[in-house]
Amino acid sequence: MRLADKVTIVTGGGAGLGRVFAIGLAAEGAKMAVTDVDLAASQQVAAEINTSGGSAVGYALDVTDGEAINSVVAQIDEDFGQIDVLVNNAGIRYISPFMKTDIGSWQKTIDINLTGPFLCSQAVIPSMLRGGKGKIINIASTSGVLAVSKRSAYCASKAGLLGLTKVMAFELSSQNILVNAIAPGPTETPMNAPYFSDPEMMEILKRETPRGAWGQPEDHVGAAVFLASDDSDHVCGATIVVDGGWLAGKGY
Ligand SMILES: NC(=O)c1ccc[n+]([C@@H]2O[C@H](COP(=O)([O-])OP(=O)(O)OC[C@H]3O[C@@H](n4cnc5c(N)ncnc54)[C@H](O)[C@@H]3O)[C@@H](O)[C@H]2O)c1
Repeated sequence: MRLADKVTIVTGGGAGLGRVFAIGLAAEGAKMAVTDVDLAASQQVAAEINTSGGSAVGYALDVTDGEAINSVVAQIDEDFGQIDVLVNNAGIRYISPFMKTDIGSWQKTIDINLTGPFLCSQAVIPSMLRGGKGKIINIASTSGVLAVSKRSAYCASKAGLLGLTKVMAFELSSQNILVNAIAPGPTETPMNAPYFSDPEMMEILKRETPRGAWGQPEDHVGAAVFLASDDSDHVCGATIVVDGGWLAGKGY
């Protein structure tokens, strides 16, 4: 129970990695505010946590809506009495060549993947300062570190999130708000569902991952628990890469 009673918000917690972060952090004792643009999905995950003996409430939250973020965060603060941890997980990805990437999908990607964490972090920090401590975990990507073709907006948003992580860590750590990132490699979630029906893509990804297997959402929980817990109190501005050796394997 390394996170006993730590009030934790996860964005995009209704599916994929966010769902597994919510369940995994709750298993370590965190009181979970599971948020997602899809209310039914966040409530379903909260119900799963409560049924297995944890404590969670589901909320509707679109991370692009600044007003909604402020009011939902105020509601969570009132419901739980404090906010200790924020996991900025909500994210989307379009796949299109650079010259075919339209401004709408570019802007939506930046809004959700980069501006979302900016707005959500600004909203929770007053409560964290009141409590004297806070942990913010930004879910970036190995795509923020290296180029993946046909993913210009996605790679730019994740590289931006890694930059934001470092500046926030630099400015806020003296006030005991510790900001870090996790960079997952390719992981089996609904976002990647099309790959799983493409044997050729599966073979490439398996070959390109030194550990020889795709990531599963559960592979990322240990890093999130560590960054949310007191064990990481001297860690700030760091990126934990959880990718089965994907990045390391790009050498020759
Ligand atoms: N799956 C991977 O291979 C992988 C790799 C690296 C990084 N990531 C990152 O991990 C995070 C989660 O990815 P995933 O694979 O679980 O995605 P997913 O598509 O499986 O799930 C994303 C969740 O975010 C929610 N969401 C979408 N738009 C939202 C919005 N505007 N506001 C709030 N919630 C919203 C969706 O409803 C969904 O529940 C993303 O930031 C993604 O970029 C994923």
